[in-house]
Amino acid sequence: MNTLRVLLTGHQGYLGTVMAPVLTAAGHQVVGLDSGLFADSVLGPRPADPPGTRVDLRDITAEHVAGFDAVIHLAALSNDPLGSLAPELTYDINHHASVRLAQLARDAGVGRFLYASTCSVYGASGGDDLVTEDAPLRPVTPYAESKVRVEDDVHALADDDFTPVFMRNATAFGYSPRLRADIVLNNLVGHALLSGEVLVLSDGTPWRPLVHAADIARAFTAALTAPREAVHDRAFNIGSEINNVTVAEIADQVAEAVSGAKVVITGENGADPRSYRVDFSRFRNAVPDFDCEWTVKRGALELADAYRKFDLTREDFEQRFTRLAVLKAASEAGTVDDTLRWRR
Ligand SMILES: NC(=O)c1ccc[n+]([C@@H]2O[C@H](COP(=O)([O-])OP(=O)(O)OC[C@H]3O[C@@H](n4cnc5c(N)ncnc54)[C@H](O)[C@@H]3O)[C@@H](O)[C@H]2O)c1
Repeated sequence: MNTLRVLLTGHQGYLGTVMAPVLTAAGHQVVGLDSGLFADSVLGPRPADPPGTRVDLRDITAEHVAGFDAVIHLAALSNDPLGSLAPELTYDINHHASVRLAQLARDAGVGRFLYASTCSVYGASGGDDLVTEDAPLRPVTPYAESKVRVEDDVHALADDDFTPVFMRNATAFGYSPRLRADIVLNNLVGHALLSGEVLVLSDGTPWRPLVHAADIARAFTAALTAPREAVHDRAFNIGSEINNVTVAEIADQVAEAVSGAKVVITGENGADPRSYRVDFSRFRNAVPDFDCEWTVKRGALELADAYRKFDLTREDFEQRFTRLAVLKAASEAGTVDDTLRWRR
């Protein structure tokens, strides 16, 4: 077994909490790095985190990256509403601090840098054609723009000893002990259970490719040890064509998973410009032992079970598991300052 020392940023987030045990089970030594903004957004038993450092990404030094074989970089303001709340903060954290992390990692001799990018970089691609990694990037939000800028700048750092890999994840779904209810499937299942309605505010037409958090974890784990020539300085869409679904189709799957729930498409937010249908074959071809295991339907059933088992409440659904609401509450309570750093 090829054991690597891996620095996992964002290890106390939704994806990081699922990814850390997958990496550990694959035999790697994992150390986390996170400012812990959502460390208490826990549904179910509190997860056992790997050893880690509570530090802001903007404040890291060479010491934080020394001695690692690989960095997996997840830490970020992780969605469009957060990005739009304070675009300059999104660029500071998601763009500048990420590029600095990559630079520090390269200087420290870290060989591989897996970056959590997003299919949102395709933005307003529209149409029904499958977009490949070579499609033009048309980000429509500061969040997506920040991801494009990191890809560009970290690509420029690639050399014989430093292999960046750009993992463009579809929108995640599924249970994580650190839940997010602000991503589409997790949101629709929760709403259906709490209100009996699968409430869609767009007109339901946008394409929204989905991927389970556990499949993302397995994809990153596979990319960590894939042959260098297969992944070096390449972008990969992470997901599966069977989960290329429209928002209306997602709503139908949720209605099937939550008996008695009715689909209500209000259309009040109009047509969402973010629409893209994605080709995921490049990663499957580069890393042949990987394929996604989770369908949207199975994920909806899993989420409904978890929400029932752990007694999801409306308050937690709207507050504790909604990233923007957590940060607004912390800011109002004065526990974080207006740059989202903890007050001492
Ligand atoms: N969840 C998705 O649907 C999805 C899809 C595509 C890409 N991604 C990307 O994957 C990554 C992880 O997403 P997630 O869903 O786990 O988000 P998350 O919000 O649950 O986790 C992000 C983590 O980053 C940490 N963080 C934020 N700002 C920080 C800072 N300044 N310093 C240190 N730590 C900081 C937070 O504390 C949190 O633990 C993000 O980069 C996100 O953009 C997520």
